[in-house]
Amino acid sequence: MNVEYDIQVLIDELKIKNRIQDLSVEINNFYKNSKKLLVVGLLRGSFVFIADLAREIKVPVEIDFMTVSSYGNSMVSSHNVRILSDLNTDIKNTDVLLVEDIIDTGHTLNQVIKMLNEREPQSLEVCCLLNKSSRRETNIDVKWVGFDIPDEFVVGYGIDYAQNNRNLPYIGKVIKND
Ligand code: IMP
Ligand code: MG
Repeated sequence: MNVEYDIQVLIDELKIKNRIQDLSVEINNFYKNSKKLLVVGLLRGSFVFIADLAREIKVPVEIDFMTVSSYGNSMVSSHNVRILSDLNTDIKNTDVLLVEDIIDTGHTLNQVIKMLNEREPQSLEVCCLLNKSSRRETNIDVKWVGFDIPDEFVVGYGIDYAQNNRNLPYIGKVIKND
């Protein structure tokens, strides 16, 4: 039992599953004529989402990952994003679907989008599981959003708090104990 914080279910497994099915219908339709689709996952938070989403994608697709620095072990965002581990794939002339776990202030995605656009993909769209729109500080064009959530710190389904709780099958909110 963790005495520092509790976790309360915010979005359960079934809701996540259903939402991914709806998203994948739209994504499959959008890319039905794509010549080369690459799903790019931002590690580590998107690994569970990507695994479930990718299995619903019915057009030919390649999958690659990159890691960028963001929160470290804290609950606040840093505005300075660095690539810690880059793609192995050349994305020039490729349709890129960037998959992220959460958009909070938007600084992480904003900078990743800029870096990827410099590589001249054919197209670049964003799919994120969770969106904290009330916290946005930059304007980002996000084509697909799983769920809009309130300004709560969440964990589970790949998402961590100080590297813990990624293994929870649902999305929960962290309730700090005094
Ligand atoms: P942004 O740069 O402020 O948009 O932050 C986005 C990144 O912060 C995401 O990739 C997440 O890894 C992390 N993040 C934002 N909110 C949460 C949260 O509630 N729990 C865990 N990580 C979060
Ligand atoms: Mg992240």
